[in-house]
Amino acid sequence: MGILDNLGQIKKLDSANMLQNLMDFPDQIEAAWQSAEKLALPTHYLKIKNVVILGMGGSAIGGDLCVGLSLYNSKVPIIIHRDYDLPAFVDHDSLVIAVSYSGNTEETVSGFQAAGEKGAKMLAISSGGDLAPICRKYRAPLLEINYGAQPRAALGYLLTPILGILSRLGILAISRGEIETAIQLLKGLDSKIRPEVPTAKNIAKQLANKLYDRIAIIIGSGALKVAARRWKTQINENAKSAVWAEELPELCHNFIVGLDFPKRLKDKIFVVVLQSKYDHPRNKIRQSVVFQILQQKSIPYEPILMHPSDSALDEMLSAIYLGDYVSYYLAIANGLDPTPIKSIELLKERLAGTK
Ligand code: PA5
Repeated sequence: MGILDNLGQIKKLDSANMLQNLMDFPDQIEAAWQSAEKLALPTHYLKIKNVVILGMGGSAIGGDLCVGLSLYNSKVPIIIHRDYDLPAFVDHDSLVIAVSYSGNTEETVSGFQAAGEKGAKMLAISSGGDLAPICRKYRAPLLEINYGAQPRAALGYLLTPILGILSRLGILAISRGEIETAIQLLKGLDSKIRPEVPTAKNIAKQLANKLYDRIAIIIGSGALKVAARRWKTQINENAKSAVWAEELPELCHNFIVGLDFPKRLKDKIFVVVLQSKYDHPRNKIRQSVVFQILQQKSIPYEPILMHPSDSALDEMLSAIYLGDYVSYYLAIANGLDPTPIKSIELLKERLAGTK
């Protein structure tokens, strides 16, 4: 029996029980949607010309997902800002949403402070930290998270409120019914990829085995670009592994000519291509040409067609959930506890010491 089918070993390695957080994902979405429904929003927030979401790392990916969805269903531009300060266009017609699990991430805090100074409309999603007094100062709503997990393992709490709030403001069109459908879909997926399901029947474990000891390259297009990025960050943080995310059609203009060196690259990488029925027809053709190129170069790859669903939201969430499990199993296959992120903590400590 391989380690991925050894439940005792998995439990032993996973000291903080990240598995429970993973299994909670659909319930996190449910609870967070309810909190977003209840949050008091100032009425003047209904008049917004653009939205800027601030966040870093595990707290930024929910913003990415909103940006991805907004391309299909919002007339108001939404961007994610992963940096200090704010883009110059932000003014009193902007809504600036800060997302930080700890509330202390200095890039996010800096942008949120700048939003207050510029007179923007503001809102934070956080456990508190340094964002809380800024919310009090500018009378900005704070949607408080009280979950007790790593930010990346609390995605439901970081993402869903943005969807709920932007829907209430008429910026994104997402209904409770769509969220409920997504939750059911995720529960169905969870039952197929959780640890009790043996490798022979478990696609997440199979993928983790394929990625073991290789550099993963995750490709997505359209709405699944965000999922590819989430796979990357989760494989980095949970499995402590090197991984890159690429997107179509952009990769057809560079990546495909960069596969010859270093020598024996084919023995070092594994390409995963996330596919959706919503992929642009021209990107579907591009995918098949990319597969031919990979075959010619003997580079191993795996296309994964997300389970056909009725919405881009469902596909994004399913692709993200699958990737989260793959990264978890890859950590276990590497013999690692998925939770600790020592280098990130060290870096934050060093920066705090320079304030
Ligand atoms: O996953 C993580 O722990 C990190 O990527 C953090 O999310 C990131 O450093 C930002 O911290 P926070 O989520 O507290 O704003």
